[in-house]
Amino acid sequence: MNRKILVAPSVLSADFSRLHEGLAAIEASGAHWVHLDVMDGHFVPNLTFGPPVISALRPHSSLPFDVHLMIEAPHQWLAAYRQAGADRITFHLEACHHSQRYLAQIRELGAASGISLNPQTPIDGLEYLLDVCDQVLIMTVNPGFGGQAMIEPVIEKIAKLRRLIDERGAKTLIEVDGGVDRKSARKIIDAGADVLVMGSAFFRDSDKSGLVRDIASPRT
Ligand code: DX5
Ligand code: ZN
Repeated sequence: MNRKILVAPSVLSADFSRLHEGLAAIEASGAHWVHLDVMDGHFVPNLTFGPPVISALRPHSSLPFDVHLMIEAPHQWLAAYRQAGADRITFHLEACHHSQRYLAQIRELGAASGISLNPQTPIDGLEYLLDVCDQVLIMTVNPGFGGQAMIEPVIEKIAKLRRLIDERGAKTLIEVDGGVDRKSARKIIDAGADVLVMGSAFFRDSDKSGLVRDIASPRT
């Protein structure tokens, strides 16, 4: 396998009173992206942060900011998140009616575009979006909280998506989010993932560089 594997630790599991230290720990670990989980209390039963916090964090990291919008009506907020410093913006397929348009808009804003699927959402129709989509974020837990156990049957969906992307010769990355740890990482990579989001497993590990080194390709 010569796919490059990237690790994107999620600040959701960092100490919220010291977020900049969380960012420093991510940078020092050799991880590739910073994953930022935005929750609105409607699309998911939890609230986190929005553009002002992301904008405040931006000067504290040189890594790409991978913003995962778990919010209703995400299209109303795309420009605000881009302006706050998001390099990659992912919204949920379940939260809007015109995904193709919003993926294209994210690219027009100069960010990488992403669409996310909840565990029960099939990949049907994604083939029509691949040419405007830089990443598909497969949720392997119900979104809203860190520290949940992975829903194992969803791994099959990763493999299906890998086949679809490869058949179409698309460059779209497969990102996987929810319950990723050292043990599940191998299965997910074998199924075809390119990017692994890690919240609780990353922040509880005392050897963060070792963790990243063990599951990813070196940062270049
Ligand atoms: C959950 C978030 C995840 C979360 C993952 O809704 O989208 O990014 O941080 O946390 P872990 O890795 O602990 O499952
Ligand atoms: Zn996430």
